[in-house]
Amino acid sequence: MAEIVYSEAQAAQNLKDKVVVLTGGAQGIGAATVALFHELGAHVFFGDWDEEKGRRVEHEIASTTSDRGRGSVSFQRVDVRDYSSQLALFDAAFAAHKRVDVAVSCAAVGEPGGWFEPDDLDLETVRKEPIPIKNTIDINLTSVLLFSRIALAFMKASPATTDSFTRSLVLVSSIAGITEAPGLFAYSSAKHGVIGLMRALRPWAPARYGGTRANAICPWATDTQLLAGVRERWVAERLPLNQPGDVARCIVQCAADSNLNGKAVFVAGGRGFDTEEGVASTMPQWMGRENTVEFLRGQDVLGLGTGWTK
Ligand SMILES: NC(=O)c1ccc[n+]([C@@H]2O[C@H](COP(=O)([O-])OP(=O)(O)OC[C@H]3O[C@@H](n4cnc5c(N)ncnc54)[C@H](O)[C@@H]3O)[C@@H](O)[C@H]2O)c1
Repeated sequence: MAEIVYSEAQAAQNLKDKVVVLTGGAQGIGAATVALFHELGAHVFFGDWDEEKGRRVEHEIASTTSDRGRGSVSFQRVDVRDYSSQLALFDAAFAAHKRVDVAVSCAAVGEPGGWFEPDDLDLETVRKEPIPIKNTIDINLTSVLLFSRIALAFMKASPATTDSFTRSLVLVSSIAGITEAPGLFAYSSAKHGVIGLMRALRPWAPARYGGTRANAICPWATDTQLLAGVRERWVAERLPLNQPGDVARCIVQCAADSNLNGKAVFVAGGRGFDTEEGVASTMPQWMGRENTVEFLRGQDVLGLGTGWTK
């Protein structure tokens, strides 16, 4: 299993003066990622629907003076469910710098309770449409598709960089996007969807959008408010716990390293590991040897998949 190791030297070299757009930056992993990009000298445009916290993070980061960082940071209120709201964030970055180099989709919400519990579900309550579930899918998955589409348009319109750096989309999924996650019905469905989107984009974006890369991040337990419901037990059991900065370093490494494309980076106890390599290498075990040979032939026939939309 390949470890994704953060290289500060590489990140500083490749990300200085680059333009980064990020959603969900008002707290937790997103805020730590904004701070790290800024420290490395990038120009970061981040959005969040929590205006108060977003402004506070913007102020705190802008007022830190780092030796290296001559980047900038700019917050605006964004609700990722709203296409025009996300578009406005990219517009702001492009208006200021005429380019977008890195796009990180990090905004998400936790599980809306009360929709699958047998005690709450009967022939009366089932008549009420589960709006919170749709809302969770909108925030945690549909918005990521919107984000990726907008990002690719802005990246396509950006002049090529003069260094070896290639543009990068980083989509934050979850361990619940690659494994069984009891109780997380809507959250896990959406996060699996993010992995599906990354897999669909990883051959497509490099080939059709000038080398643009797509990677996903799959944090395991990370010490943010999202973990509140299970944190106490987790800590008592001494299970591995990431700090937001650990996940931020994996996100930044995926942004900075032009060799990383199509990875799903499982982040556990502060370290990142690509799980896609194992999925590919064990295919004959879980799909069967003959099926694998035929499947890979089928993939060749489908190519980039342009036939699907004819
Ligand atoms: N904390 C963990 O253990 C963990 C584990 C796996 C994956 N993740 C993922 O990491 C990412 C960051 O999570 P976190 O732990 O920092 O959580 P968090 O709740 O601290 O941060 C999420 C941010 O997204 C914002 N947001 C939510 N809905 C939004 C909307 N509609 N429009 C704009 N902004 C919105 C929130 O305001 C918040 O600032 C998420 O994608 C989450 O699913 C976290």
